[in-house]
Amino acid sequence: MPKDKPCVLVIHSSRFGQSTKIAQAIVDEMAACGVDSDLQALSVTTAPDPQRHDAVALVISVRYGHFDANAAKFLAAHRAWLDAHPSLLVTVSLTARTEAKRDPAVHSYTKKFLEETTWVPTHTEVVAGMLDYPSYKIWDRLAIQLIMTMTKGPTDPKTVIEYTDWDRVKELADEFAKLVKDAPGVSENLNRR
Ligand SMILES: Cc1cc2nc3c(=O)[nH]c(=O)nc-3n(C[C@H](O)[C@H](O)[C@H](O)COP(=O)(O)O)c2cc1C
Repeated sequence: MPKDKPCVLVIHSSRFGQSTKIAQAIVDEMAACGVDSDLQALSVTTAPDPQRHDAVALVISVRYGHFDANAAKFLAAHRAWLDAHPSLLVTVSLTARTEAKRDPAVHSYTKKFLEETTWVPTHTEVVAGMLDYPSYKIWDRLAIQLIMTMTKGPTDPKTVIEYTDWDRVKELADEFAKLVKDAPGVSENLNRR
């Protein structure tokens, strides 16, 4: 079906909902910039539709040092398409709550993920997630308290803090929407499909 706006495939992988919330905020802000999105939860079958999608945004959270294994599988399966289209990687974690760690070249999980997958997204953003001790099961809470002790963060089990910088998420979505609209071939292909 012909379309009059670029369309981004926005993929989210979330355990407690924060990455989904961030992905939704990106979708909403890109819509305000004149860019459509398809929001999909990451699964083994996630795939871009070459007839419909002009770009991809992947929003994934860290759990015990790792991202959803389907992220690496998705990249391997669609690498040729990804390399030919604008792409955005957003990683969500608690170590990113300090500004120094939000540099993708410094943030160890992001660095390792990019090294292992060899993917070079057009833009990479490291975003701070949510700390919500009351909603964690006991072993998860103890593990996070240990991580927080090591990284000088809050350990009080009643703590609920959303560290996400929503202004930056919005700005990021504005920047990516512009990048997609300006990408070679995108405007020329509108209404042709
Ligand atoms: C069980 C568990 C393990 C986590 N492991 C890590 C970790 O290894 N490193 C880190 O920086 N953050 C870690 N986090 C923090 C999450 O990445 C953060 O809470 C994020 O907001 C979760 O996003 P999601 O709700 O989309 O899954 C962990 C959180 C939980 C609950």
